[in-house]
Amino acid sequence: MKVFNTISDTKQFLSEEKLKGKKVGFVPTMGALHKGHLELMRQAKEENDLLVVSIFVNPIQFNNQEDLKKYPRDLEKDKSLLETIACDILFAPAVEEMYPEPVNKKYGFGPLEEVMEGAFRPGHFNGVAVVVHKLFNIVEPDKAYFGEKDFQQLAIIKKLVEMENLPVEVVGCPIVRESDGLAMSSRNVRLNTEARKEAPFIYKTLQEAKRRRDHLCAGPLRQMIINLFEANEQFKLEYFDIVDDKELQPIQHWNNNKGTVACVAGWLGGVRLIDNIRII
Ligand code: PAF
Repeated sequence: MKVFNTISDTKQFLSEEKLKGKKVGFVPTMGALHKGHLELMRQAKEENDLLVVSIFVNPIQFNNQEDLKKYPRDLEKDKSLLETIACDILFAPAVEEMYPEPVNKKYGFGPLEEVMEGAFRPGHFNGVAVVVHKLFNIVEPDKAYFGEKDFQQLAIIKKLVEMENLPVEVVGCPIVRESDGLAMSSRNVRLNTEARKEAPFIYKTLQEAKRRRDHLCAGPLRQMIINLFEANEQFKLEYFDIVDDKELQPIQHWNNNKGTVACVAGWLGGVRLIDNIRII
């Protein structure tokens, strides 16, 4: 595996490979790699000639400095994992390499960035868009892979690609879960024993929402599921919403022709977790 820390080395190496006709699959990450990431990489490897992974904890997407400080980092462990899946190129820049100057760019994603994560984490998606756009310009991938756990992030990145006419195919990949249903996330390592034991409750409650879909309208179902989340004293709910799968706007009535997803975010043992389930 080649490891690059600078933009110029990465660009130079990749431009030579592309001249040889190699197709590039790209998985951007913030490190603390887990099986969910490895699944994205496995698919990227299968569908392209070269797998490029980036590891960069992007400071401008954190609206909470404490969260940024606590974000798990273990580059050496990540590198060993990447070797096991035969990653071709790791791009792991420092903050100064990515942001030599303060960032002023403001995208406008409209209603898509005003709901759910956007409402609770102001500026988060602009920070994600800035870094993903920059990484796409550096790597110039044919395809880029993102997990559906961050469903709203995936929608924002698709919108970014459309708005900026970027020549990359964005591929969304299914959520990978622990055997008890907990969605894999880099943040899971920060759950203490008690919180980890309680965590499968999130997916169980989402499954309950899906089961009840034939018996209740979207509005009353949402309220019923909010009540279930709020009845758990360990879990501090931020939002539970039932939304369409394109603009992620809340829906009131089921429409079998419209993809629908139920999304949740909340805190368990001081760790913020998100998850979602497709309802239609
Ligand atoms: O999902 C993530 O890990 C990050 O938000 C991403 C897409 C790598 C941008 O920093």
